[in-house]
Amino acid sequence: MSALKEYEAQLEAIDLTDPAPPQEPERQRWFMKKAAELIKEKSQELGRPLTARVKTFGCQMNERDSEKLRGILEAAGYVLTEEENADFILYNTCTVRENANLKVYGRLGYLGGLKKQNPHMMIALCGCMMQEAEVVDKIQKSYRFVDLIFGTHNIYKFAELLVSALQNDRMIIDIWKDTDKIVEDLPARRTYSFKSGVNIMFGCNNFCSYCIVPYVRGRERSRRPIDIIREIEGLVKDGVVEVMLLGQNVNSYGKNLEERVSFAQLLQEIEKIQGLERIRFMTSHPKDLSDELIDVMKHSKKICHHLHLPLQSGSSRLLKIMNRKYTKEQYLELTGKLRREIPDLSLTTDIIVGFPGETEEDFQETLDVVKKVAYDSAFTFIYSKRTGTPAAVMENQVPEDVIKDRFDRLLTLVQEIGRERSSRLQGQTLPVLVEHINEQDETLVTGRLDNNLVVHFPGDASMIGKLINVHLTDCKGFYYIGEAVR
Ligand code: SAH
Ligand code: SF4
Ligand code: F3S
Repeated sequence: MSALKEYEAQLEAIDLTDPAPPQEPERQRWFMKKAAELIKEKSQELGRPLTARVKTFGCQMNERDSEKLRGILEAAGYVLTEEENADFILYNTCTVRENANLKVYGRLGYLGGLKKQNPHMMIALCGCMMQEAEVVDKIQKSYRFVDLIFGTHNIYKFAELLVSALQNDRMIIDIWKDTDKIVEDLPARRTYSFKSGVNIMFGCNNFCSYCIVPYVRGRERSRRPIDIIREIEGLVKDGVVEVMLLGQNVNSYGKNLEERVSFAQLLQEIEKIQGLERIRFMTSHPKDLSDELIDVMKHSKKICHHLHLPLQSGSSRLLKIMNRKYTKEQYLELTGKLRREIPDLSLTTDIIVGFPGETEEDFQETLDVVKKVAYDSAFTFIYSKRTGTPAAVMENQVPEDVIKDRFDRLLTLVQEIGRERSSRLQGQTLPVLVEHINEQDETLVTGRLDNNLVVHFPGDASMIGKLINVHLTDCKGFYYIGEAVR
């Protein structure tokens, strides 16, 4: 039985004349059924099904949370859609940089207009941005048409909040400062049938001085290995062959568990799951990357040879002010060891340009690391001031034109090196996990190599979700054109 079908059967057994049970997840199941009853009434009144849309901003954690939110909406009887004009709109927001924030306000204005045309429309906001008090104040004042606001710590309660919002005309707001609670066994509607994100931990304890994530995602909490394994086994039964283990710093996994388990040990357990083909994870903090992990990666048949290892800056002076807890030399030593132990490893990174006080010399150190490590690719970000973080009140903010110039120089270098790194696989035959039909040319399919590089090759829909050996004929910079080998 598929996970969703199993869920339907569980909901079937609930009696709504009983009060909502106090314990989780049973309580949320009761509210899902209650929501379904309310949605059914409304839908009969309107003579059509009700639709819902979840739009995600930000990282893969948010993508995974959105799958859970969609699962709950579906259990409540909504038909999921990508249409902007749905009856229920939920924005799962991000606040890591200011432009993520601005995007949400821009779209909210537009949604307000749509709601005037469709009085049945409900608008809900959740995610990282909602954990900031000034954001919620602003929405209460300037976007009064919003029906429901909740944060990152009580996502599991969405069914209960949905019922409140359906039964009330006023704006429902429920934000928690932090939590130590992890609620298992809620439904999810996956975006892909063959791959899935899996949370292994929540929150972050690192407090890098520029970063807002620890404030909006709370303290670090690891899920128990048994719960993670059970979830992955369920996913595999449901057709998943690739998982992406998610955490802000997966290398510190397990530190708060009663029975301590290291990330490397967890990986070894996951490796044993039959039918699972590929294991990815993100993000690794360089300060906590153990030799044990390198060893496990080296000998694993399933862990992809790709490591995302955020550098942030190449200057030891800035790294100290950023509170990253490693120096340029330590970072280079670590990447050197990784390259020696796992020669075909693909290394990617995140870099911030224009952190307060960054001098040209600091920036040169960053370029130096980029050259020495030779990343396969890198996400480059312009520093964004986040209220409440230590860096926001540092006085020596770097002028915009200086940042822009550095950013362009960095991007040019990163792309030049990335292109060269990618081309090294030309002529090899490697397995590709096919993800979808190519958007531009429907005679092609698109998939990914173990190291995350994209490959397009002639094929058809029957290949989706399968690992196919592909001869990499032509490197086009950041992707390959290939041919299936039978
Ligand atoms: N936990 C992950 C990163 C999560 S945020 C880690 O530590 O690696 C993703 C990336 O956003 C970070 O790696 C960083 O490069 C960038 N970032 C975070 N805060 C930022 C800020 N205030 N301005 C610009 N970029 C930022
Ligand atoms: Fe932010 Fe640092 Fe935590 Fe990553 S490790 S989420 S950059 S505070
Ligand atoms: Fe953004 Fe929250 Fe992720 S701030 S980057 S969505 S953890």
